[in-house]
Amino acid sequence: MKMKPVKIMETVLRDGHQSLAATRMRISDMQPMLEQLDDIGYHAIEAWGGATFDSCLRFLNEDPWERLRELKKHIKKTPIQMLLRGQNILGYNHYADDVVTEFVNRAVDNGVGIIRIFDALNDVRNLECAMRAAKKAGAHVQGALVYTISPYHKNSDFLKVAHDLVQLGADSICIKDMAGLLAPYAAYDLIKTLKSEINIPIDLHTHYTSGMASMTYLKAIEAGVDIIDCAISPFALGTSQPATEPMVAALEGTPYDTGIKKENLYPLADFFRKVKTEIATDFKLNTNISIDTKVLTYQIPGGMLSNLLNQMKEQGCAEKYPELLEEMPKVRAELGYPPLVTPTSQIVGSMAAFNVMVGRYKVVPREVKDLVRGKYGRTPAPISDEIKKLIIGDDPQITYRPADDIAPQMELLKQQLAEKGYPNASVEDVLTYALFPEVALTFFAENRN
Ligand code: CO
Repeated sequence: MKMKPVKIMETVLRDGHQSLAATRMRISDMQPMLEQLDDIGYHAIEAWGGATFDSCLRFLNEDPWERLRELKKHIKKTPIQMLLRGQNILGYNHYADDVVTEFVNRAVDNGVGIIRIFDALNDVRNLECAMRAAKKAGAHVQGALVYTISPYHKNSDFLKVAHDLVQLGADSICIKDMAGLLAPYAAYDLIKTLKSEINIPIDLHTHYTSGMASMTYLKAIEAGVDIIDCAISPFALGTSQPATEPMVAALEGTPYDTGIKKENLYPLADFFRKVKTEIATDFKLNTNISIDTKVLTYQIPGGMLSNLLNQMKEQGCAEKYPELLEEMPKVRAELGYPPLVTPTSQIVGSMAAFNVMVGRYKVVPREVKDLVRGKYGRTPAPISDEIKKLIIGDDPQITYRPADDIAPQMELLKQQLAEKGYPNASVEDVLTYALFPEVALTFFAENRN
């Protein structure tokens, strides 16, 4: 029996609560369990980045950098992993290279060991700067390819992106299936394809949204995947990851045995079950989120479906919701088949909503124009001249890396912050201000003197 142990990346401190509890887990909720989490034998613990940074400042009155240092103080053996949106860092716009580089440096200095970096369009030019900085800072760089389904997302297309990521120096590859679209047998084929030519570890990240995720993991494991992302059960399933305990139990005694003792996970599950109840009470959240297989037809993550429905209701167009569901895939195709992940999901969603409310491409939000102009990078499929004309008229499209247009920003941000009354702001505070200026100033007003 040839052993091929599967590694587990635990997401409870980031994606688990981001998916099921509106990213509201506080550092005080985590603290009592950090040493035990560190002792489990996880490949890594995802605990930073994604929406946690914004949530710390906006909702929890916490300094995200302070949170990272506190995590690192207690998680000493297991690498702390973060999720970074390439040139968008953790925000929604492209930033200058000096901001991206400094952010990565400070993240690594403060405790991040593995940086997972992705771009919504799989345009690897948007990953270059962050990957280079992460490598230089000594982090493990995980290049992510965003998974979606379209005529322009065949396994050969994903393989090409994976090769590009290896070329840029990736230490491992992540398949990021944020909407839970990856079906078990499709996963088998995709992993086999990648494994046939890519010689660095492959990590599969999926969500339970459609209900297929644990089956998908099992087939991915049979195809040779190296790492799977799981969340301890109270923060698993629904729109989060498959649960850690049953995956560990299912693989026990097989060549894929994770080496993790399931008994060691029980106290963690008991602890985080209480945390979930507390968070739900304190922030009045419904954490009881079940699966919704509709995502496979509309390719719209569940949370976004309900947001869109609410927006339509506010505009008094609730009856047009079924039309909107039909419109989304059309708009996505017309805009070059972007995968639906932040920020492209919002861009496609708002365009589709305007189309059904006021007529097709009569009103076009700025972000949609920017997408068509190439300001987010290259779309997976070209956009037809007809649609281009409708959206940006005769404006030219840019064909270079979008951040090439952005002059260095760090000095300017420092000056701005000095003018606001913080002349001695730390580099971390400057970066916080760069990402979320208004929220940062409110936070500083309360927490800096
Ligand atoms: Co995720």
